[in-house]
Amino acid sequence: MAQFDFDLSGKIAFVNGASRGIGAAIAHGLAARGAHVICASRKLEGCSAVADAITADGGSAEALACHAGHMDQIEAAIAHVRDTHGRLDILINNAATNPFYGPGADTPEGAFDKTIEVNLKGPFFFCAQAIPLMREGGGGAIVNVASINAVEPGLYQAVYSMTKAALVNMSKALAKENARDNIRVNSLLPGFTDTKMTSVFKADEDHLKSMLEQQVPINRMAQPDEMVGAVLYLVSDEASYTTGAQIVVDGGYLL
Ligand SMILES: NC(=O)c1ccc[n+]([C@@H]2O[C@H](COP(=O)([O-])OP(=O)(O)OC[C@H]3O[C@@H](n4cnc5c(N)ncnc54)[C@H](OP(=O)(O)O)[C@@H]3O)[C@@H](O)[C@H]2O)c1
Repeated sequence: MAQFDFDLSGKIAFVNGASRGIGAAIAHGLAARGAHVICASRKLEGCSAVADAITADGGSAEALACHAGHMDQIEAAIAHVRDTHGRLDILINNAATNPFYGPGADTPEGAFDKTIEVNLKGPFFFCAQAIPLMREGGGGAIVNVASINAVEPGLYQAVYSMTKAALVNMSKALAKENARDNIRVNSLLPGFTDTKMTSVFKADEDHLKSMLEQQVPINRMAQPDEMVGAVLYLVSDEASYTTGAQIVVDGGYLL
């Protein structure tokens, strides 16, 4: 009889973009269910603060500096996981960037390249590096953090939205190819969530209020913790028949 307890005891989890926001919340959630969490982002300081907070709460975590768009650092990060832990059970591709906000046709080439590099190339090669290690360990679960913009492009966020749509398709492609090896690949599509990434919207309170009233049936932003339950489901044995799926957590935005 299954336990239905979302237990992750003994699992090794890697979260990129774990220094704050949704990634930090996911790292805390995975650790609370018993996983050892490797918290990664560009800035070691932020990751160390999250790992220390997890440890203070009785969980198990470590911090690692890794630029999610640089191949050498992605390879080194997964090599570190192999050398230190000998296995990888859970990968959360959460890091992303959105350096240009404006008409798509005005996107500078540098911003285009950076968005593709961090939001798409990075997750792809994190998966490519992680999958053989997961396969050796008997399987694993990957969650790619996309966005509602994957379905409905955000105004003035053309390239960001393109990467998120591609990320969902990447999840489906890798889900199909790796299902027989017990590796599941799914996408989380968050809606407006109260993090540094959305601070630009919070600068104009009246605009934010009317935007939420018109576009979000629940009529508020999500808190990062509200993304965690869906991720815990997707990476646990309770989701053993779920792969290539998209879970939308958006307060009704896409309705
Ligand atoms: N907030 C929303 O409304 C919303 C909605 C839909 C989807 N999402 C998605 O949710 C995910 C998390 O976003 P968030 O809102 O929590 O953003 P956030 O608060 O800005 O956090 C972004 C995280 O990514 C890391 N990061 C950024 N660039 C990186 C790079 N090149 N290499 C490694 N790490 C990098 C940051 O750490 P460092 O600065 O230390 O590198 C940070 O930990 C993203 O994939 C985002 O697209 C967010």
